[in-house]
Amino acid sequence: SQANIGVVGLAVMGSNLARNLASREGNTVAIFNRSYEKTQTLLDEHPEAEFVPASTYEEFAASLSKPRTAIIMVQAGKGTDAVIDALTEVFEPGDIIVDGGNALFTDTIRREKAVRETGINFVGAGISGGEEGALNGPSIMPGGSDESWVTLGPILKSIAAVAEGEPCVTHVGHDGAGHFVKMIHNGIEYADMQLIAEAYDLIRRGTGKSPAEISEIFAEWNKGELESYLIEITAEVLKQVDADTGKPLVDVILDQAGSKGTGVWTVQTALDLGIPVSGIAEAVFARSLSSKPAQRDAAAALPGPDENAFRAQDEDAFIEGVRLALYASKVIAYSQGFDAIVAGAEQYGWDIKKGEIAKIWRGGCIIRARFLNRITEAYAENPGLVALVTAPFFVDVMEKAQVAWRKVVADAAYAGIPAPAFSSSLAYYDGLRADRLPAALVQGQRDFFGAHTYKRVDKKGTFHTLWSGDRSEIEAVDSH
Ligand code: 6PG
Repeated sequence: SQANIGVVGLAVMGSNLARNLASREGNTVAIFNRSYEKTQTLLDEHPEAEFVPASTYEEFAASLSKPRTAIIMVQAGKGTDAVIDALTEVFEPGDIIVDGGNALFTDTIRREKAVRETGINFVGAGISGGEEGALNGPSIMPGGSDESWVTLGPILKSIAAVAEGEPCVTHVGHDGAGHFVKMIHNGIEYADMQLIAEAYDLIRRGTGKSPAEISEIFAEWNKGELESYLIEITAEVLKQVDADTGKPLVDVILDQAGSKGTGVWTVQTALDLGIPVSGIAEAVFARSLSSKPAQRDAAAALPGPDENAFRAQDEDAFIEGVRLALYASKVIAYSQGFDAIVAGAEQYGWDIKKGEIAKIWRGGCIIRARFLNRITEAYAENPGLVALVTAPFFVDVMEKAQVAWRKVVADAAYAGIPAPAFSSSLAYYDGLRADRLPAALVQGQRDFFGAHTYKRVDKKGTFHTLWSGDRSEIEAVDSH
């Protein structure tokens, strides 16, 4: 037994993670893949790395020192279950199986429970940062038992990205907590991407600037408070020219956005938890809408505003407005995402420290951004903060952005440019800060047709109006 850590599944993410592990002092990495070919390729291509290859699960287990620790990097779903079954056969109580894929957190809860019966630890760990992150330092969100964290913590710290001198990994909480937080991360990623895409579209159609020119705007934004990985790569994508046609690449890419499902999970989960993650939901819906070519064809002739109805008068002011709208909407997306984390933690009994989550998202992951530092500070100042957007720093952001944000949303509507994430984030913001909401009327309607009752602002109790009788009010039994 020469290896202290193993990796199962040597597709790109697995290979890169194995190489990352092998490159850190103190690690020797056992590697296994269902077909040996991939194992051989990795050995051939990276002679510098000290790998201990195995061609069977038995060999793999024998090559690991105890407690055996293995990270599974296979496609989420059935494949994961098969590998877990195979590993539980050859591992012993106290050993640790880590699923580093994008598993649905409820699957992780189920698997953790089943594996625990054997005395083996099962850890669902969210790993973000794509291929490059896996190789050079991802952000890692492990769940699982405290016992497994003792062994796993130092190993994961050795490979994680480092932000402000701290490794981007923390023990998020028990069983499925890590995959839950990774799922929310991906939801925020969807919102962030959609907001950036809307900003691009508004600038392009509002000013007529070319993708290359807009690339420069994003590169400029990336020097300021919006600095983030997603803004940075947006500038890269926009300046890319297609070799075949000489056109901007973005103009030859089919405008139908795909997804692997984690954004959908976030929204489904949030709906169950009763948390309005409207920015994330709009991002998911925007991808769905884009991928309906038959409907889009059929609707292409629907009436819209005059092509030239909208043109930014003052281009610089318009672009700055879009930047502010993007920043404000982004704060809302994170605020909603953290609300979902709080609700999930409560529902599933996890002790998740929001400040720690903000910290480990500062580096390595897809949503890494300068402004995560502000979120970290906000939760450090007030761990019980009820809504991120109400932290003093973000109140200040809203103060500076809200007028421009409203104008951008109005311009978009007037111009017929879809900006679902910008506009729904603004509606959420206004809903949240409203003194009175028309929810009172909805309650009245519910009471009218279904005797669903309502509460009053001026006295305790539950009431019902006798709508089909003399319309007097009676005190009722609470039936929400
Ligand atoms: C990350 C990413 C990654 C994700 C893909 C797929 O954090 O590294 O979130 O885990 O799987 O980017 O996302 P889609 O749903 O857009 O395909």
